[in-house]
Amino acid sequence: MKNIVILISGRGSNMEAIVRACAGERWNARIAAVLSNRADAAGLAFAREHGIATEVVEHRAFATRDAFDAELARRIEAHSPDIVVLAGFMRILGADFVHRFEGRLVNIHPSLLPAFPGLETHRRALAAGCKVAGASVHFVTTDLDHGPIIGQAVVPVLAGDSEGALAERVLAEEHRLYPLAIRWLVDEQLVCRDGVVQHLDGEPQLLADAAGRR
Ligand code: GRF
Repeated sequence: MKNIVILISGRGSNMEAIVRACAGERWNARIAAVLSNRADAAGLAFAREHGIATEVVEHRAFATRDAFDAELARRIEAHSPDIVVLAGFMRILGADFVHRFEGRLVNIHPSLLPAFPGLETHRRALAAGCKVAGASVHFVTTDLDHGPIIGQAVVPVLAGDSEGALAERVLAEEHRLYPLAIRWLVDEQLVCRDGVVQHLDGEPQLLADAAGRR
């Protein structure tokens, strides 16, 4: 049984999708804990209601980023994690932290990486006139929102889309993609060579059902 630790900062809808899939699909894994850097993260309530241990490590309580990272790492390690999942975790993690969990630390980003790392991805995709948008699950490296891509989901950008409408369309796919990607990790179905992640069975690491064929 693999131990999964999930880090959130807010709403936690991706965490929720992973918790539901883990239970519903009977993964060979357990959600060992949900940690947040904010006590007011809405997602903590869902985790508690589902009997999952929750912990808060307030970043504001630490004088330096390194001190926060060190305490966070200590608290994560206490759960002997096989997989550490960043799900809307809004703190940049330093090199020591990333190296400590490298290979088992994953993130979801609401763009088709390597396009649009960082914030306001949907606004930037619309401004660039992109015709597709989406989300990427990737291994975390010391480069913000970069790292070997585990899977991607693609959605169309529709004429007249607002930032909110596009974000909503992408988020619905995130909720399918992230559990799928974590399940591949739980089942040890991925191999990473030279920065390229492939599924052992050659399964497409792509969700494109919502890509709106004409
Ligand atoms: C998601 O769009 C995710 O891609 C990004 O932050 C958002 C988190 O949403 N990293 P939630 O907290 O999972 O609902």
